[in-house]
Amino acid sequence: MATRPPLELPCWGRLREHHAAVVRRHLRELFTEDPQRARDLTFEAAGWRVDLSKHRITRDTIQLLVQLAEQCGLAARREAMFRGERINTTEFRPVLHIALRLPRSRSLIVGDQDVVPQVHQVLDRMADFATRVRLGAWKGFTGKRIRNIVNIGIGGSDLGPAMVYEALQFHADQNLRVRYVSNVDGSDLTLALRDLDPAATLFVVCSKTFTTLETMTNARSAREWLISQLGSESAIARHFVAVSTNQAAVREFGIAPENMFVFWDWVGGRYSVDSAIGLSVMIAIGPDAFREFLAGFHAMDEHFRSAPLQRNVPVLLGLLAVWYVNFFGCQTWAVVPYEHCLRRLPSYLQQLVMESNGKSVTLQGEAVSYATAPVVWGEPGTNGQHSFFQLLHQGTVLVPCDFIGFCEAQTPLQHHHDLLIANMLAQAEALAFGRTAEEVAARGVTAGLVPHRTFQGNRPSTILMAPKLTPRSLGALIALYEHAVFTQGVIWNINSFDQWGVELGKELADRIAPELGTNEEVQHDASTTQWILYYRERRARDGRAGKPPARAN
Ligand code: F6P
Repeated sequence: MATRPPLELPCWGRLREHHAAVVRRHLRELFTEDPQRARDLTFEAAGWRVDLSKHRITRDTIQLLVQLAEQCGLAARREAMFRGERINTTEFRPVLHIALRLPRSRSLIVGDQDVVPQVHQVLDRMADFATRVRLGAWKGFTGKRIRNIVNIGIGGSDLGPAMVYEALQFHADQNLRVRYVSNVDGSDLTLALRDLDPAATLFVVCSKTFTTLETMTNARSAREWLISQLGSESAIARHFVAVSTNQAAVREFGIAPENMFVFWDWVGGRYSVDSAIGLSVMIAIGPDAFREFLAGFHAMDEHFRSAPLQRNVPVLLGLLAVWYVNFFGCQTWAVVPYEHCLRRLPSYLQQLVMESNGKSVTLQGEAVSYATAPVVWGEPGTNGQHSFFQLLHQGTVLVPCDFIGFCEAQTPLQHHHDLLIANMLAQAEALAFGRTAEEVAARGVTAGLVPHRTFQGNRPSTILMAPKLTPRSLGALIALYEHAVFTQGVIWNINSFDQWGVELGKELADRIAPELGTNEEVQHDASTTQWILYYRERRARDGRAGKPPARAN
């Protein structure tokens, strides 16, 4: 475990010097000088082929970054995670999402318990339930077959399953409609339900804590909708299941223990899609495909745990973020999947990266003196090319990009796929090599336009490709990012597994919510007070002064 800030490690100074030399080099030169560069800087892991050659690095950079990882104690921290030590030190918990994908034959003792049988017991219950829903053996209250699944959750209890469901739509049962409701904005729930037959609708309420304002508000409104439509409270038992670590709160909500699927406090919300939180996905794609999904995660876990650091793909991706954030001063990172079905991946990775590593205090509780997580953003290619790529190519900020693609199309429209992949490769090439003023002029462009049509290049990107988007390749991709985030957290000496930064806003919202529906005096800063009074006045004037909003918990 790093006991010194990374800046004080011998390697950091060497990386600084090295950066001063590398920053002057252009990718054009690096490729010309080193004909083996593309081959040698392309790595394989769990079915993914990852090309790092278009990064502003040399072989020395990798060596130095790996030394940094060694001096930060990455290997020991990684082992501590895999062994189930309480590395989430502010919540006093182990971090064991890796246990969720361990095969049945393995064991992992935490405290005095083997967690693997517990994991598989829940997976078996999920499989049994999912199969009954898929086959129509699980019926609604009126005897109708379930056709609609509505997952209610937010953050990790929404982004994971929603992203994975969309990603695996070609693997999903087409007779089921699966929807995800997350926002406390009533429009989300209303739009999700307005064309659904309640008698054929199953709600999966996902919340690790079962106290989250948005989820509980949506779940209560969904329960009211169902009861009013089906005319009986007894309908709940056939139309609501819960996924949570909080059994008492689930029972209190009115969902029976037999309709609850548990997970454990050692699974962080943003690391939970491979737990029972993935139930909606399992119902959609079936238990076998879900197990393949878990196998993909596990294959990447094994790679992360055992591959030498200099060929360890998650480690290298994590270290590259450190390289760009701390040495080049990059503040953002773009993720651009060239696969329509991965369109929610950027949002998913936003939570994974920014909630994990958006921290400014070290494990020891001291203020960090260096930058941590970048802002992650992105859109699917090719759409992004027609909006923000202008800035990527010719803007004044350096934005490293991850391009993600697949060799095989998911549809018979092969020419679409060829165009898609051609665009992905073209963007990475254009970013890296650009087009010089001389090249532009040689194409007959008028002198006045040459500066406008010149591309500096030297803009870094990673190409990640797998043979096909399958449950397995998707699981491996998610695990790849999880472990890259872990690596960054170790270097930055922060706790990647808590999220105290979301608490203050929740607490204040909890205080403001009832204040909006009363006339009582409020005590906030002048700006917030002014807005509360303005909203109250409009609310009363427009005749919307119904019952005050309930407290969150
Ligand atoms: O507020 C942030 C957060 O706690 C996330 O970490 C989590 O994924 C999300 O809210 C939802 O929490 P829960 O699953 O407990 O409803």
